[in-house]
Amino acid sequence: MTFCPVRLKNLVDIKSLSTEEIEGIAERALEIKNGAKPVSCADKHVALMFFENSTRTKFSFEMALNMLEVKVYNFETSKSSLSKGEDVFDTLNNLAAIGFDACIIRTSEEGLIKKTIFEAENGRKFFKNIALINAGEGTSAHPTQALLDYVTIKEKFKNLNGLKLVIVGDIRHSRVAKSNIELLSRFGVNITCAAPEYFKDESLKNLTWSDNLNKSLENADIVMALRIQKERIQGIIEFEDYIKNFQINKNNLPKNCILIHPGPVNRDIEVTSALLDNRGEVILEQARNGVFARIALLEAILGGNDGQY
Ligand code: CP
Repeated sequence: MTFCPVRLKNLVDIKSLSTEEIEGIAERALEIKNGAKPVSCADKHVALMFFENSTRTKFSFEMALNMLEVKVYNFETSKSSLSKGEDVFDTLNNLAAIGFDACIIRTSEEGLIKKTIFEAENGRKFFKNIALINAGEGTSAHPTQALLDYVTIKEKFKNLNGLKLVIVGDIRHSRVAKSNIELLSRFGVNITCAAPEYFKDESLKNLTWSDNLNKSLENADIVMALRIQKERIQGIIEFEDYIKNFQINKNNLPKNCILIHPGPVNRDIEVTSALLDNRGEVILEQARNGVFARIALLEAILGGNDGQY
């Protein structure tokens, strides 16, 4: 293929993607990783609107956009007219009117992207077309992270059906866990969640849960460690208790299992520093694959210059 076979209007969450769309994006990402040239989208303009901090997502989107020859603009919240009281809907509408083709949004506000698209399609007049791309929203959705994790796992295992994935840690506050559970369970991955009571999530109660890390890690093919999201937790975090019972280290990580983590890692909390330095190579592969997954996604949303689709 010479460009992504999938065409998308927006990226809201994994639920809104078909299995074929996920597969198309992942295959295109691997094709680009293996040397295929991204299409040129040199006539497109994209804004990065990050209301929360980011290293991996922001810079890999920026690199992906540069590789597609897209014009990239950083939306600086504190210097924008949001600080004067303009709302996000009006801000996006004005960006669309100025001529932006897409806006990549990271926010703590649950459902902001879906709500904006709904309002644009149902009644708020004068809304111009601008693609909205979820770069991490609240505690519920981080679809591009799940796409890049899928690319990483697919690259390692080829067939995901029947693999055992153990997700460890702060699942309650993790949008990465939610998007990955949605995506990977569609491809037949068996998922176990290992977490203390205070990180369990009622909305995922149908999954297999364990508070015995060592037992849950038996026969695991993939272990996904998660960061404890201090910024979303009110009250005291029992770090000592967590480390004692849920930290991943060289003794409990099964020998032939891969260790993944969306980052950023809190060394010596969810994973020991020594383990990270010895078996953390796939974590960096995830960061690299973020560029390819995002190029494929952006091709699907922006298309190429006129005539590419
Ligand atoms: N995985 C992830 O979203 O990392 P950043 O917060 O650095 O973007």
